[in-house]
Amino acid sequence: MMRSHRCGDLRGDHAGETVELCGWVNSRRDHGGVTFIDLRDRAGLVQVVFSPGVAAEAHDVAQTLRAEFCIRVTGVVQTRREGTVNPRISTGEIEVAAEAVEVFSEAETPPFPIDGHQDTEESLRLRYRYLDLRRNHMQDNLDLRHGIVGAIRRFYDAHGFVEIETPMMTRSTPEGARDYLVPSRVHPGKFFALPQSPQLFKQLFMVAGLDRYYQIVKCFRDEDLRADRQPEFTQLDVEMSFVGVEDVLDLTEEMFKSVWAEVLDVSLPDFMRLTYDESMRRFGVDKPDVRFGMELADLGTVFAATEARVFRSALDSGGAVNSIAVPGGGRLTRKELDGLVEEAKQLGAGGLVWAAVTPDGLKSPMDKFLSDEERTGLVGASSAREGDLILIVADGRVGVVHKVLGALRNRMGERFGLIPELERSDPGAWKFVWITDFPWFEYNEEEARWDPIHHPFTGVVEETLQYLESDPARVVSKAYDITLNGWELASGSIRIHDRVMQERVFSALGITPEEAEERFGFLLRAFRYGPPPHGGIAPGIDRIVALAAGESNIREVIAFPKTQSVFDPLTGAPAAVDEAQLELLHLKSTAPPEK
Ligand code: AMO
Repeated sequence: MMRSHRCGDLRGDHAGETVELCGWVNSRRDHGGVTFIDLRDRAGLVQVVFSPGVAAEAHDVAQTLRAEFCIRVTGVVQTRREGTVNPRISTGEIEVAAEAVEVFSEAETPPFPIDGHQDTEESLRLRYRYLDLRRNHMQDNLDLRHGIVGAIRRFYDAHGFVEIETPMMTRSTPEGARDYLVPSRVHPGKFFALPQSPQLFKQLFMVAGLDRYYQIVKCFRDEDLRADRQPEFTQLDVEMSFVGVEDVLDLTEEMFKSVWAEVLDVSLPDFMRLTYDESMRRFGVDKPDVRFGMELADLGTVFAATEARVFRSALDSGGAVNSIAVPGGGRLTRKELDGLVEEAKQLGAGGLVWAAVTPDGLKSPMDKFLSDEERTGLVGASSAREGDLILIVADGRVGVVHKVLGALRNRMGERFGLIPELERSDPGAWKFVWITDFPWFEYNEEEARWDPIHHPFTGVVEETLQYLESDPARVVSKAYDITLNGWELASGSIRIHDRVMQERVFSALGITPEEAEERFGFLLRAFRYGPPPHGGIAPGIDRIVALAAGESNIREVIAFPKTQSVFDPLTGAPAAVDEAQLELLHLKSTAPPEK
């Protein structure tokens, strides 16, 4: 080894020892003939002092050192003089009096300072990701990721699961996104698809009798990127045989509790449970942030006999009138209120009615259309207090009411500071929620057809099977999600394991028997050979780590992520390939030539 210790590990009880340290120059200061270097490595920073009186040669070299030079220092640990102790760093009690220094390599001036460059433009950070990753904060995030993945593996290993790899070059697995395709040279005109998830392979493992499988696995989806989405991301994929919904829920919850205990030293309370319907009714979304209240109120009863036109027509056409009460929102200016109305419209509402609860009663553009009873009812049902702002959405489609108010609730929660700062050691900071009893189908307005909310292999609650063809909206699935602080963390279900049933579901989705055979024949065939009842779940690793680290974007916990525009500034991928390579793959580009 070239070193005796790591910089950040030195403490007061090392005083008097001669040490050899390797690392990067974090900063250099010259003071009264003495040169100070903060030397940084994976473990942290330590101050190194170069005095001409102690080691003249080393002192000369020290004066040539600049930020990010990679060096080795030999010296003696000494306790710092009183008044020079630095309580902000773990090595702040001591410093190293340098006797010799060796420069391994010099560094150009980095494109951004290694510390305190959080505001640097992201594409620059990603272009120089290896410098970005020199930051202790980023290294801590990757360490946390490693810790979480390790704890997950230990949990499943201890519970009799085997980790098995599944192919990356395969057929499309529909999870609702577009596929990334890999052209085949050997089979002209044919393509492999990168897996959106190992869903079908894990089901085949169950048919094979492997019983309990898991895998930490890369998945690929060509979809619009957001803070919680990357085109390639990592799932913890799990599948079990001979289980029902409760078995998967219990074991998965136990896993999260064990990981949080091991990695964050937090003893999680039991997860909250909400059915999909309750979640939509109370929070307007299926991934509720339950760290704050401001729940949706149903004003159907209050306005049952109303003559106010917007409310009347929404209720008469089978829709809903709902509200939220924003605590302290009464102080918003007219301009800000107009802004909110605009936001609601952009979210898909026809409009937004606001009503401020003031000491002199309600202040609202709708006020003149309301009876006294309705005014009192509105404030009461919305649980609004003086100083609050009531936001009302009325629409003939209940889904629109939920969507708009659900989104506004989240935004208002943030803007009005209702979301507490994450206190990682507080078990109450982690609001895990199970969402159960999802509808099986959702109507796709654009395509005018019924799509699965989860995927086509999701089990159906037996009592609702009768509606499969006649009234798809009433079919309930055996699917469940885990949400944490407003993020969807995991998704899973008990699967269909009956071939005839699976064919019936394909048919309800408008997939013809020929198409089903073409796309999923291998699964249907497997189901001819004694498939066991089975089910599983897939939590997203990037999201788990981001939330555990208190980050609001999963890119902060992925070593080499893509930008929002699906580009890697480090390697320049995706990149053009030459004609010969395309020809070999039997491809011809129709893209306009690059400018
Ligand atoms: P689903 O599609 O819900 O389910 O994905 C499961 C979990 O994977 C994570 N995730 C993502 N993370 C980052 N970037 C993305 N683009 C992305 N897409 C999904 C989320 C999500 O909850 N086969 C099923 C699981 C099953 O039924 O067992 C599936 O893939 O955390």
